[in-house]
Amino acid sequence: MAGQESLMEKIVSLCKRRGFVFPGSEIYGGLANSWDYGPVGVELKNNIKQLWWDRFVHRRDDIVGIGAALIMNPKVWEASGHLGAGFADQLVECERCHERFRCDDPNSPAKEMWDHISEKHPETIGSRGRSAAVTAFKLIEEKYYTKPKKFNLMFKTFIGPAEEQANIAYFRPETAQAMFVDFKNILNTSRKTLPFGVAQIGRVFRNEITPGNFIFRTREFEQMEIEYFIPPPKRDKDWNGYFEMWQKEMHGWIKEVGIDESKIHDVEISDSERAHYSKRTIDFEFEYPFGQKELYGLAYRTDFDLKNHEKMSGQNLKYKDNETGEEFLPHVIEPSLGVDRTMLAVLLSAYAEDGERVFLKLKPKLAPYKAAVFPLLRNKEELVKKAREIYEDLRKKFMVAWDDRGNIGKRYYAQDEIGTPYCVTVDFDTLEKGDVTVRDRDTATQERIKIEDLGEFLSKKLE
Ligand code: GAP
Repeated sequence: MAGQESLMEKIVSLCKRRGFVFPGSEIYGGLANSWDYGPVGVELKNNIKQLWWDRFVHRRDDIVGIGAALIMNPKVWEASGHLGAGFADQLVECERCHERFRCDDPNSPAKEMWDHISEKHPETIGSRGRSAAVTAFKLIEEKYYTKPKKFNLMFKTFIGPAEEQANIAYFRPETAQAMFVDFKNILNTSRKTLPFGVAQIGRVFRNEITPGNFIFRTREFEQMEIEYFIPPPKRDKDWNGYFEMWQKEMHGWIKEVGIDESKIHDVEISDSERAHYSKRTIDFEFEYPFGQKELYGLAYRTDFDLKNHEKMSGQNLKYKDNETGEEFLPHVIEPSLGVDRTMLAVLLSAYAEDGERVFLKLKPKLAPYKAAVFPLLRNKEELVKKAREIYEDLRKKFMVAWDDRGNIGKRYYAQDEIGTPYCVTVDFDTLEKGDVTVRDRDTATQERIKIEDLGEFLSKKLE
């Protein structure tokens, strides 16, 4: 198996080699921590999003979806608190080279900051040694770093040609706010009654101080979020019950996408570390090769957002109970999932080695291609013709790859690395007996299947 040290390098290299993820703007020397999804990467990402939408919107009758604008009225961000200190990271700067670091808690050990000093400025560390465990506070006191400054994460832009104060706008830093701002329109058109949820998948932007670790922390990424509206605690004391229901749902999702559950930890976030809007948060942390860090978050946002939007907009955002006629602001439980982090955790969980062979044990639902079809030899017209017929037929049902380059071994190798569950080879026996070789990605075992049974065979296997 891959050693933990190098697993991340292996994933990054496989992603580039096979077309999952490329460095963004590479021919111009790249753009720090921007990544582009390649032909199979975009399929995997779309499959993740489609599965999430199916599971939480199509297969439930208490959740509806929306697709909102990325740039919203700046008042949205005033009301939500994102323009204030609540949506800012603490930042320190190296006194020598001015490199910046996140410093959320100056009292906890600051490994990244110390690693930076011992690697870039070793002449300054004296007798302490490279592996010393020091706090950020100590490093600031000893004048290695500046005092922490708050740095707001909103991505600014201008609407229209004039770059004036009055035209400042922001790219959304979370998809959530549209679900609150559109609450009344959603309620009036969907006729849902409490409890019910609103779901959205979309791109968000954050001016992160220290992006990094491949697609783990970037400045633009995609989220899959649900705002689940529940009665306020006065009327129904069970917000914790809904919270726990969503905690279970998130574990159900983690299992469905094939993320290694033994590497998931539910971490209760303390009062001082929670986001400004949350009364309870659980982070679902994953053991990445670079440490245990957040994969998803689940928060009890109370009525914080609806209350503030009601105040800022002057509009009535209350829900009316049709039975009692009472009006009130619902409270909210929010499961929030990053698409890119899902993809990273899925890839890390699926990566496997069997001797020289590298393969991705992706769930068939997520695999970019469900099967690949090969003619044994590309220069034998009758083999190519038969293989092409089978390929065209299977394509009506599944996403199928075609490959006739190189030898069969190399073709298997390429499909294994992108997680294609089955490879179908058309050989000379096929022409005589009407059957094909089907090879299983995980076991590398092969069996002969009649051409007329192939569609059904694959459908069953891929279920
Ligand atoms: N609406 C709540 C919210 O946005 P968050 O914890 O800030 O909460 C939710 O973000 C999820 O978005 C995270 O759990 C993570 O999966 C993903 N995420 C956050 N920042 C990210 C970044 N810079 N790059 C990639 N994914 C990120």
